[in-house]
Amino acid sequence: MTRPAKRPFAKGRPPARKTAQPPAEFRELEVSIIDVGARGDGIAFAEGLRLFVPYTVTGDRVRVRVADGDGKGEGVRAELLEVIEPAPGRRPPACRHFGRCGGCTLQQMDDATYAAWTVGMVRGALERVGLGDVPMEPPARTPAAARRRARFAALKRGKRVWFGFNERQSHRLVDLEECPVLAPRLFALVEPLRGLLADLLPDGGGADVVLTELEGGVDLLLVGPRSLDRAAREALVAFEPERIARIAWQPADRAAPEPVANRRPAFIRFAGVSIQPPPGAFLQASAEGEAALVAAVREGVGQAARIADLFAGIGTFSVPLAQQAAVHAVEGDEAAVAALGRSVQGLRLTVERRDLFEDPLGVKDLNRYDAVVFDPPRAGAAAQAAALAGAKVPRVVGVSCNPASFARDARVLVDGGYRLTKVWPVDQFLWSAHVELVGLFER
Ligand SMILES: C[S@@+](CC[C@H](N)C(=O)[O-])C[C@H]1O[C@@H](n2cnc3c(N)ncnc32)[C@H](O)[C@@H]1O
Repeated sequence: MTRPAKRPFAKGRPPARKTAQPPAEFRELEVSIIDVGARGDGIAFAEGLRLFVPYTVTGDRVRVRVADGDGKGEGVRAELLEVIEPAPGRRPPACRHFGRCGGCTLQQMDDATYAAWTVGMVRGALERVGLGDVPMEPPARTPAAARRRARFAALKRGKRVWFGFNERQSHRLVDLEECPVLAPRLFALVEPLRGLLADLLPDGGGADVVLTELEGGVDLLLVGPRSLDRAAREALVAFEPERIARIAWQPADRAAPEPVANRRPAFIRFAGVSIQPPPGAFLQASAEGEAALVAAVREGVGQAARIADLFAGIGTFSVPLAQQAAVHAVEGDEAAVAALGRSVQGLRLTVERRDLFEDPLGVKDLNRYDAVVFDPPRAGAAAQAAALAGAKVPRVVGVSCNPASFARDARVLVDGGYRLTKVWPVDQFLWSAHVELVGLFER
């Protein structure tokens, strides 16, 4: 019998928010996990209810706690109390925070079970739109200690700063003591950041910190607090000059980042070409994930001589593809477009800023290309997929961080006459329920 790890910081945790609700009555049940769903929760049935049980493996026999009165909607969240009989695919988690930290939800699965779950998620999403029989590569998996970009939350209470990730489905912070998925150079900054934020934040104040490992050093973006006084700026300017190449501050999520310390160029190389990402710019979360996505995209576009790369970001695909073809990169974010535009010298690469939700490339424009790559945010690319469905582009390569929205867009393309001929699952967020994929459409 194994019990989930005890909560190591229960005593020193930041207080939970007060709610006006009366305390719930709980009851305990013994159930078997029959599947693990898209959010990474095990699924079980009991007393006519569908239960979602986090941190479980298909085949586990578990004891869970359910709040009385729950049971409406698609299912009930249950709390895992005890694993009575572990499934063969279960293994000990890699991190002491597992079971509380919202970063990882699948460390309880052994490698084979986890890989099968990843493939199952992608195939399941495609099956729901009638495209489940597509040939699929084995998932490309990012190793531990490889995450080169992460957003942390920090909160100061009294003199203490909690620094880490939120608990699952909660705003309560897990104070990180270890993180096996993070690149060690990022984790090494956690303790110094606690010290910095103890000086910077008022009692009760919070901020987010985005760290990105780049050539030249780490890029630090501080999101919040709303204002920085002179002492705070000086503390930032003096912070970790050896390890941190650049520091910027964003008073709020949608505000433009303001440079605070530019010590040396912070850049990334795509196919040997240097790009300086703007602070907070999108970047694939690991070098290994990026390499797997680029390899699949390259295979997908084949020998195409003219390629459009839609939702191009700072050029993860555009730049390598421009080694073999003339590429037109289209992206909505002004700073990303500017960063890519500064690096196109010597490449057959043009860059356009455009809102592809409001103003997707039309059929006439699309038909100029031998291949189109599209890599939208989680919501997918509904408007652009509709336009693509009416075009005659021979090869369309979809990249996605959301199998469900990918499947929806894939259905539109297939209804327009494309065949989905191959899919590459990419597991870039190790031990999380986040699965990415690349799909090739041909006509
Ligand atoms: C998943 S990222 C992919 C970026 C790039 N392909 C890469 O791999 O680094 C999605 C990109 O879509 C851009 N984006 C979001 N909404 C957009 C829109 N409405 N029009 C154009 N680009 C948009 C984001 O700025 C981001 O760069």
